[in-house]
Amino acid sequence: MLIPRRDVELGLDPQSVPRDWCSADAYNTTFLDALSLLFPEGERFFVESVKQQKAKVTDAELQKEVVGFIGQEAMHGKEHRAFNELLVAHGFREAPRIEANLRTFLKRVRKVLPPMSQLAVTCALEHFTAMLAEGLLSDARMQAEMDPRVRPLWLWHALEESEHKAVAFDVYRAAGGGYAQRASLMLLTTVVFFAAQMLVHARLMATRKILWKPWRWVRGATRLWVYPGYFTRLVPAYFAYFRPSFHPSDRDTRVLLASWRETLFGEGGTLVERTRVVA
Ligand SMILES: [Fe+2]
Ligand SMILES: [Fe+2]
Repeated sequence: MLIPRRDVELGLDPQSVPRDWCSADAYNTTFLDALSLLFPEGERFFVESVKQQKAKVTDAELQKEVVGFIGQEAMHGKEHRAFNELLVAHGFREAPRIEANLRTFLKRVRKVLPPMSQLAVTCALEHFTAMLAEGLLSDARMQAEMDPRVRPLWLWHALEESEHKAVAFDVYRAAGGGYAQRASLMLLTTVVFFAAQMLVHARLMATRKILWKPWRWVRGATRLWVYPGYFTRLVPAYFAYFRPSFHPSDRDTRVLLASWRETLFGEGGTLVERTRVVA
């Protein structure tokens, strides 16, 4: 599959973006803000772990996809960093410290885990991003909750996560990665990822002074797990990863992606004027 690198420049203006940009709700917004704070350093980790193994890739098609993957993740890092600066303007002065802490943590992970395990962690997290991406791209309600100025960032990121969802996985297999390591590191990654996300979310909620308001938690968690149950819907896709024969392309998202490519980057698309396709 062709994985184009699109040079997107969103140029978000902190003055015009509301602080509670997701469903005008501080809990829902800080949840996504926390995810955004994890992206730039996390995506740099993904890229490094793939680069470490790319010499083992002999298939010319996959080599090209690796180049596309690296280009896409670099762009996401750049635009989410810009978004994270906007969070500072919105009063989350702790944002740069959170990113610095994550950088230190991931440096340690790189020291402790062997390169193939690092790539298995990347495969696990790419499965998470692919699930979340498909969830967002196929759910008009979730899209409508986002402020229209911020929505393109998440839609574009979701589109590209879905486009390159198999790349890290294919590199892992080409480099000789096996099932036991992939499955066990998914379990470990799940625990660490949820813990990190919750910690950062809690920190941002404290800034918004909603950390000790339990009804906010109950309402927010209900939205994710009960109704509409954005996360509950992803549970089968999560467990599919533990099938020995699993491959990210088992879920065919080609029609969905073609329609979003048209909406965002086709003639008159939402992001056409803010994009240059590099390759
Ligand atoms: Fe990404
Ligand atoms: Fe990705």
